[in-house]
Amino acid sequence: MKDERWMLFVFFMVGWLVIGCDYARMTSDEAHDTYEAYFPIMPQDNVSVSGGTTALRQAGPDALINPLKEGGPAIAAGRAGYANFCVHCHGARGDGRATVGQSFAPLPTDLRSERVQSQSDGELFYKIGFGYERHPPLIHSMMEEDIWAVIILMRDASSFHE
Ligand code: HEC
Repeated sequence: MKDERWMLFVFFMVGWLVIGCDYARMTSDEAHDTYEAYFPIMPQDNVSVSGGTTALRQAGPDALINPLKEGGPAIAAGRAGYANFCVHCHGARGDGRATVGQSFAPLPTDLRSERVQSQSDGELFYKIGFGYERHPPLIHSMMEEDIWAVIILMRDASSFHE
């Protein structure tokens, strides 16, 4: 008598599992059919080879002109850009003595130095954007306008506090 009740219980549990799980849906899940899908045919000329950052790179540093005007809004945007993308290497003072920068050899350049300040905005944009020696290219992380704004900020000695 006891054994029968035990079997009934098992029968009930198995039945519950079978009904409870929507097996049909699980086996027709996308994950099972991944390799059955055909790769979509890509339209020709899908990858841009002009415009965007390619145009900037091709133009070269001498042709790049800062589109922003000096002054409040550019400085504010520059300050935000510097805080997000530069300060951990170049430091609040711009002297290149910040935490992350210390692992670089050479150390990040002093942004107040003659070497940096004597370069045109276009040259600086090009180096910051596309990378320079050990410098990471930032054009894919930052908006173009923000790089230009940071350059305006860098021109102002009062941007960097001691
Ligand atoms: C990951 C660290 C790092 C970040 C982030 C970084 N820099 Fe640099 N920067 C460096 C290093 C290292 C150098 C020195 C590169 C060399 O001379 O090889 C350098 C050099 C420079 C130079 C000098 C270029 C020259 O002509 O010698 C400028 C200007 C500059 N950085 C600006 C910036 C600005 C502006 C930002 C933020 C938008 C920035 N960097 C973000 C590490 C960094």
